[in-house]
Amino acid sequence: MYAQLVTSEGGKAREAMTPEEAAFQDRIDRGEKIEPKEWMPEGYRKTLIRQIGQHAHSEIVGQLPEGNWITRAPTLERKQILLAKVQDEAGHGLYLYSAAETLGVSRDELIDLLHAGKMKYSSIFNYPTLTWADMGAVGWLVDGAAIMNQVPLQRTSYGPYSRAMIRICKEESFHQRQGYDIMMKMAKGTPEQKAMAQDALNRFWFPSLMMFGPSDKDSVHSAQSMAWKIKMNTNDELRQKFVDQTVPQAEYLGLTVPDPELKWNEEKGGYDFSEPDWSEFFAVISGNGPCNEERLGARVKAWEDGAWVREGLMAHAKKQDARRAAARVAAE
Ligand SMILES: [Fe+2]
Ligand SMILES: [Fe+2]
Repeated sequence: MYAQLVTSEGGKAREAMTPEEAAFQDRIDRGEKIEPKEWMPEGYRKTLIRQIGQHAHSEIVGQLPEGNWITRAPTLERKQILLAKVQDEAGHGLYLYSAAETLGVSRDELIDLLHAGKMKYSSIFNYPTLTWADMGAVGWLVDGAAIMNQVPLQRTSYGPYSRAMIRICKEESFHQRQGYDIMMKMAKGTPEQKAMAQDALNRFWFPSLMMFGPSDKDSVHSAQSMAWKIKMNTNDELRQKFVDQTVPQAEYLGLTVPDPELKWNEEKGGYDFSEPDWSEFFAVISGNGPCNEERLGARVKAWEDGAWVREGLMAHAKKQDARRAAARVAAE
């Protein structure tokens, strides 16, 4: 009997579900993982493709602001570390494109949609990285916010996505530590270095808060995604957690969070803080951030420059197939 009302908060009402949908929701409520060949509602599949695809694109586009600094890292050690970090992000993109492919969309299709501006990536990567301290701020804040988002997603209902998240989260912790380590060096360095660290924090603080997406009251996809365990926490919950975790880290660095409204609230056991400028957020995600054109341009160029490699590989594979077929005929 599926006559009862909504059991999973915000999901489709039970009485409006088909028996298949209800059985599917029961599996999710029991904490079972959904695997690629199993039945799933079309909305679940589409929402996951959008979310995993956006996530994959963010990993790949996210390489650009940091890749920019590899040749300019101050020491050989920092260069190696940054190179490893940027390389990890490529790996994250690949696991995620693979996870999306299990839902019936190819990597090429997803990349086409990104290049056509029809799929998004995280707004944060449309901001420039102006100084070496930005490498610290990005690792500390941007990877820190990513971890906040991704740790709960290890328990997401879709098997391939959940397994990709487990591996990615391990690497993200390293990314966050390397960023904080750079900040530490800069904040304890010369007054000029400390000023650079403070400036990086000033510029990345609010864009990092935007990474959790619009406020819950304006978030369009939340309720159904939470019922399906595609989303595990609301945007505002995660943002609050991020602020509560990050403010003491800024204090330890001796840096000031650029928010005059920031204050510990004993009653809620968390900080009160200013909302980011949402008009800026919506401008950036609709293509009008400081670096949107440059970022997308770099991706499209890389894709076009790589065309000869893809063509070469395809031609080689075809030749091998033909050779194998000829060998089979000869053996018969
Ligand atoms: Fe990543
Ligand atoms: Fe990362």
